Amino acid sequence: MGKILVVNYSQTGQLNEIIDQFLSPFDPASIERHLIHPAKPYIFPWTTEEFFDKMPECVQEDVIPLKTIPFSANRYDLIVLGYQPWFLSPSPPITSLLKDATFQQIMRDTPVVTVIGGRNMWLNSQESIKTLIIKGGGKLVGNIPLMDRTSNLISAFTILHWMLTGRKDKKWGVLPLPGVSQQDIESGARFGSIVKSAWEKGIYSELQHNILATGLIQIPTDILFIEQRAKKLFRIWANLIKTKGTTPAKRKRLVSLFKYYLLIALFMVAPVILFVYNLLIVPFTGNAIKKKKEYFCGVETKL
Ligand SMILES: Cc1cc2nc3c(=O)[nH]c(=O)nc-3n(C[C@H](O)[C@H](O)[C@H](O)COP(=O)(O)O)c2cc1C
Repeated sequence: MGKILVVNYSQTGQLNEIIDQFLSPFDPASIERHLIHPAKPYIFPWTTEEFFDKMPECVQEDVIPLKTIPFSANRYDLIVLGYQPWFLSPSPPITSLLKDATFQQIMRDTPVVTVIGGRNMWLNSQESIKTLIIKGGGKLVGNIPLMDRTSNLISAFTILHWMLTGRKDKKWGVLPLPGVSQQDIESGARFGSIVKSAWEKGIYSELQHNILATGLIQIPTDILFIEQRAKKLFRIWANLIKTKGTTPAKRKRLVSLFKYYLLIALFMVAPVILFVYNLLIVPFTGNAIKKKKEYFCGVETKL
């Protein structure tokens, strides 16, 4: 039996912890694990300005230089890719890895399982990842998204607190802890066992079905609603900032406008629209919503 290649980036270590749990059922001898390191590390904690300034390049899936990863082989049985969404898009380290010619060579005709550690919005980023995997010649066979289960507004507050102070503690001493809960991080082991069993048999056709059968992966309807609209708006902003932000001062002004736009949209506009949507639309579109959730939970692509 060949080896499993496991690659991920993590800025705070949260995704490393998830992957550690995921790998716990495996014999370490069957695993080759690597971390992705951007050539120029992202500073943590973020300043507000740097945080929002990352949006255009994330959304347009620009490549950043990475430190060379010392892969020991050019073929693996299975690839496990861990990543985090940034601005509804794959974070630049994972985008860059998936666009790298050496990695694409390794990925060719190889089954890939993605493990995501994010706040609560992974649907658009996973669509991008599906496309990047197909373009790189790989085959997505499983996806395990682990998210913060608290409400969208509270988790937005708590993640900004974590990202901008570097402290993964309770904001104001009262809000829930930011990020993926310890219980969900530990559920990584359960998903690891499911993937291990598919790998041992060399059959992945039932893998995603078995992952979903745990009942641990759910898409809240509010999140589906927001994700279906927000990425289009992010693309417009990304394009505007890149084309009009031609000097550092102009870019700074546009990024600042985007920041206020996003905060107003997230904390003021979305709650009102979602209230109306939940009241008037959701009761009559249950079937369409269910189908969309099934699609996003799956590993197939509309491409
Ligand atoms: C710049 C930035 C943008 C982010 N955007 C999203 C997002 O769109 N959706 C989401 O679920 N989480 C988002 N997050 C949270 C990350 O996906 C992730 O949970 C967090 O950064 C911790 O991951 P780590 O393992 O890299 O430390 C964002 C984080 C950063 C730093």
